Amino acid sequence: MTAAANASRTAVGPLVIDGLCAGYGDTQVLWDVSLHVEPGEVVALIGSNGAGKSSLLGAVSGVVKTWSGTVRYGERSLTGLEPDRIVVAGVLQVPQGRRLFGSLSVEDNLRMGAYLRNDREVDADLERMLTLLPRLRERYDYLAGRLSGGEQQQVAIARALMARPQLLLIDEMSLGLAPVLVDQLVELLARINATGVSILIVEQDVQTALEVSSRAYVLETGRITLSGPSAQLLDDPQVKKAYLGV
Ligand SMILES: Nc1ncnc2c1ncn2[C@@H]1O[C@H](COP(=O)(O)OP(=O)(O)O)[C@@H](O)[C@H]1O
Ligand SMILES: [Mg+2]
Repeated sequence: MTAAANASRTAVGPLVIDGLCAGYGDTQVLWDVSLHVEPGEVVALIGSNGAGKSSLLGAVSGVVKTWSGTVRYGERSLTGLEPDRIVVAGVLQVPQGRRLFGSLSVEDNLRMGAYLRNDREVDADLERMLTLLPRLRERYDYLAGRLSGGEQQQVAIARALMARPQLLLIDEMSLGLAPVLVDQLVELLARINATGVSILIVEQDVQTALEVSSRAYVLETGRITLSGPSAQLLDDPQVKKAYLGV
C-alpha cells in the first residue's frame, strides 16, 4: 500500500445526508438535499457556480448551520456538532481556495492539520506526507503563500490528511490549475482513496469530477436534480448540454 496508508483511517460507515435544508440569515440555499457516500467510495457533487455546493460541504463540516434534516456519519449524528468534533469524528474538509496559512511554512501548515491529535505519530505522518508528495519535501521551509497554485493544493490536501480523516470533502480542487496539475491531483486522490479514505468531491470541472468518481449528484439552485453512476451522467444528454458544453 502507499505511503499514506498509515496516515489515514478506513471509513467506519456511510455519510448519510437526509432532507437537509440550510441557508444564511433568512435566505435558504439548500432544499431537502439527500445524498450518501459509502465507505471507500468517491462521490462527486457537480453544479454551477452558486448552486450551493460549498454550502452543502459546510453543513457537513459544521461551518454552515443546518436548518432541518440530518447528517449522519456511521453511527454518529454530525448535525449541530462543532467543526472540531466533526474533524475528530473523521470528516475533513479541504476548503475552496485552499485557505492555507500563507505566512507559515509548509511544515507548520501540515502540523496545523494535526492540531486536534494527541497521539505521538504526528512526526511519522509528516514523513509519510513528504513521501507521498515529494514536491512538499523540497518546499518544506517555504512560506505557503509563496507556493504555486498546484503546490498549495497539495499542501491543503496533505494538511487535511494530517488529521487522519476517514472521509475527505474536497471543494473545487481543480479551480485555476493547469490540466497537467489537475491530472496529478486526480492521481493523488486515487492513491488516497486506495488507502480506504472515502471522498466527496465538489467541482465545477464536471468532466474531472465524473472521471474520478463512481457516483455523482447534480445540484441546481440548492436542489439535487439528478444522480447516478458517473459514467452514466457523462453520457446524459442533460448533463452534456448543461455542464460539458457538448
Ligand atoms: N457566507 C454566506 N453568506 C450569505 N450567502 C452566502 C454565503 N456563502 C454562500 N452564500 C450564497 O449561497 C448560495 C450558494 O453558494 P455556494 O454554496 O458558495 O455555491 P457553490 O459552491 O455551488 O458555488 C449563493 O447564492 C451564495 O451567494
Ligand atoms: Mg463553491
